[in-house]
Amino acid sequence: MATKPDTINLLDPAVQEDWYPSYSQLQEQAPICFMPDLNMYFVSKYSDVHYIVRHPEIFTNQGGVVSTEPLVTDPEARAIYKEHGFDRMFPLSLDPPHHRKYRKMIDSALSRNGVRKHEPFIHKVVDQLIDQWIDKGQVEFIAEFCDPLPRMVICTLLGLPIEDIPQLIIWSTAWVRVWEGELSKEDQLDVARKGVEFQNYIIEKVREKRAEPQDDLISELANASFEGERPLTDAEIISMIDHLFIGGNETTTFAIASGMWLLLSNPEQLAKVRADRSLIKNMVEEILRLESPTQGMPKITVEDVELSGVKIPKGSIVHVRYAAANRDPDKFECPHAMDVTRKSAGSHMAFSQSIHSCPGATLSRVEIAIAFEHLLDRLDDLEFTPDKNDFAHLPGFVLRALKSLTINFSKVS
Ligand code: HEM
Repeated sequence: MATKPDTINLLDPAVQEDWYPSYSQLQEQAPICFMPDLNMYFVSKYSDVHYIVRHPEIFTNQGGVVSTEPLVTDPEARAIYKEHGFDRMFPLSLDPPHHRKYRKMIDSALSRNGVRKHEPFIHKVVDQLIDQWIDKGQVEFIAEFCDPLPRMVICTLLGLPIEDIPQLIIWSTAWVRVWEGELSKEDQLDVARKGVEFQNYIIEKVREKRAEPQDDLISELANASFEGERPLTDAEIISMIDHLFIGGNETTTFAIASGMWLLLSNPEQLAKVRADRSLIKNMVEEILRLESPTQGMPKITVEDVELSGVKIPKGSIVHVRYAAANRDPDKFECPHAMDVTRKSAGSHMAFSQSIHSCPGATLSRVEIAIAFEHLLDRLDDLEFTPDKNDFAHLPGFVLRALKSLTINFSKVS
């Protein structure tokens, strides 16, 4: 069945606050379902999501939100890019064959070996962040820990100065606003002005690193050869770097925050990990499975296709809901329960799979694991601070993020 059950409204803030009953209902009643209000097919079963991401020749990234066209549509705002900046592109998310050519330029820096060389820095930053509030016995965990950690790590990996983080956040917040939906003209102008400032900042760093290369990813890209034929253009390199900077931030922040929330909500699971630290690696997978920071992404069909008995016409938007797939009872037993020993936890879709699977997955996994290693080493008696938490999430269709999380603890003696 492809018809939306009448009782489901995925734009309702109450549904977005707790998506999971709606995912279960859709999986039972309409696993591939056309949503007229969103003009998209919403796919919630693991097997269908798996099929779609493994057939990028049918379900492509082209023409949707991942477009080489600027997502800003107002002519005056677009003129700002044209006159003062660069084309806004997404080389890392293109369709084959170009996709692979760009991805291979970043994949080794983000591989297991590439990430390993940043581990000492990640350990140091985690400890420094905890030092700042450990004597207080209470912390607003997101602002004081989950936000700064991924920002500092991605800056270092790219080769951007940590002191620039406050300004970088202003630019990247504007960058992601185009996904909020229709923006007013004023907002589009603001997005374009900040976008162009960000682009010019990046290109200045690229020029510095062309002249004096350092051991970082911007230097690598600045001096790389595309297919052995030419350097990357300024627009290509800017787009790759801003995508990595933004991809490297929020999602990892959200995962660490959700991880703490899950552990404090499931004290018996916390006790298991405390007793056996070798479970941390699997715990990270279980966190990503249960509270996937990227709940889903759109793809576009390039031909008429039939999937699990549902006919989907060419040119349709098909939204693959990774977070629903991750709680599919046909794939994961007791899918809503946290189980840090779950054997299949790592087969979740939080990073997608196949050619567009997240290049930052290893980095994120390592950051989350190191974060919890130190948090558990140094903090005891962890609990939610009474009367300070409403556990509300930021509104939105794609990202899953707690707004704030205040916790109490004692120091491990
Ligand atoms: C917990 C953290 C993260 C989550 C949950 C996440 C999730 C995802 C998902 C689901 C996709 C696939 C999108 C699609 O369907 O096309 C993706 C792609 C991507 N991610 Fe991540 N991501 C995370 C961290 C990162 C980090 C740390 C970086 C950068 C260092 C990054 C950079 C990217 C880029 C560039 C793509 C596009 C790849 C492509 O289309 O080939 N992400 N991410």
